[in-house]
Amino acid sequence: MKLSERLQLIADQIELGETMADIGTDHGFLPIYLKRSGICPKVTLTDVSQGSLDKAREDCAKFAPGEEFDFRCGSGLSVLTPGEVDAVVIAGMGGILMSDIIREDLDVAKTVGHFILQPRRHPSYLRYQLYDMGFDMDRELLVRERKYIWEIMVCHYSGEHIGEADAVSDTSLWYFPDLLTENDNSILMPYLELALEKQNFVYERIRGSEDPRIEETENRIRRIEHLIEEVR
Ligand SMILES: C[S@@+](CC[C@H](N)C(=O)[O-])C[C@H]1O[C@@H](n2cnc3c(N)ncnc32)[C@H](O)[C@@H]1O
Repeated sequence: MKLSERLQLIADQIELGETMADIGTDHGFLPIYLKRSGICPKVTLTDVSQGSLDKAREDCAKFAPGEEFDFRCGSGLSVLTPGEVDAVVIAGMGGILMSDIIREDLDVAKTVGHFILQPRRHPSYLRYQLYDMGFDMDRELLVRERKYIWEIMVCHYSGEHIGEADAVSDTSLWYFPDLLTENDNSILMPYLELALEKQNFVYERIRGSEDPRIEETENRIRRIEHLIEEVR
C-alpha cells in the first residue's frame, strides 16, 4: 500500500515499536500501513461514525488480511484509557475540533507519548490551545497534497505554560512559529509567500478603516517578511 505524501509524513513520525491510535481514521490507510509494515505492534482505529469505521474494517480486511486490528466507535479520546497508547494521530479535521477533543479528555491526552496532528483549518487556534493546555511543540512539518500545503504538528504534554497562552504578546507566533523554518525551503518558501499574499490581500481591504484587525494583520505581515528574510 502506497500512502499519500501527507499520510506518509505522518507515518514517519511514529517510531518503530510504538503503539498508536488513529482518531477519526475513516479509510484506515495510516494504521493499515503502520501494522503491515511492522512499525506498530498494535494499532487502534477509531471514528465517531459507525459508517466510517465499517469502511476502515473493510479496508483492513482487503489490504491486510490476517492482521489484527482494534476498532472503536466513539468521539475523540473518550474511547482510550490513560496510558494505553504511545502515539495518537488526529488528521484531516479542523483545528477547533481537535483542540476540543484533546481538552475533553485531558486525563488521557496527558499520558500519550506524543500527538501527531494535521489540522485542515485553524492551525493557529490549535497551537494556542495546545500551549494553553500544557503541550510542548516538538516539530512543525509542512507537506504538499495536490494544491494544498498542510501543517503537521508533533507535540507532547509537559504541563508547562498551562493557562499562559494569553500572556504571549506576539500573537503572530501562533500563525508562523519559529519551528516552521526547519522545513525544506522548497516547500517553506511557497508556504510563506502564499501566506504573505493572503495577509496583504486582507490588509489592502482594511487599511485606513477602523477595522480592529489592522494591527494584528500588520504584525503577521512583518512576521512572514522576517521569516522569508531568514530562510533566504
Ligand atoms: C476527513 S476524515 C479524515 C480521515 C483520515 N484521518 C485522514 O486524515 O485521511 C475525518 C474523519 O473524522 C471523523 N470524526 C469527526 N469528528 C470526530 C470525533 N469527534 N471523534 C472521532 N472521529 C471523528 C469523521 O467521521 C471522519 O471519518
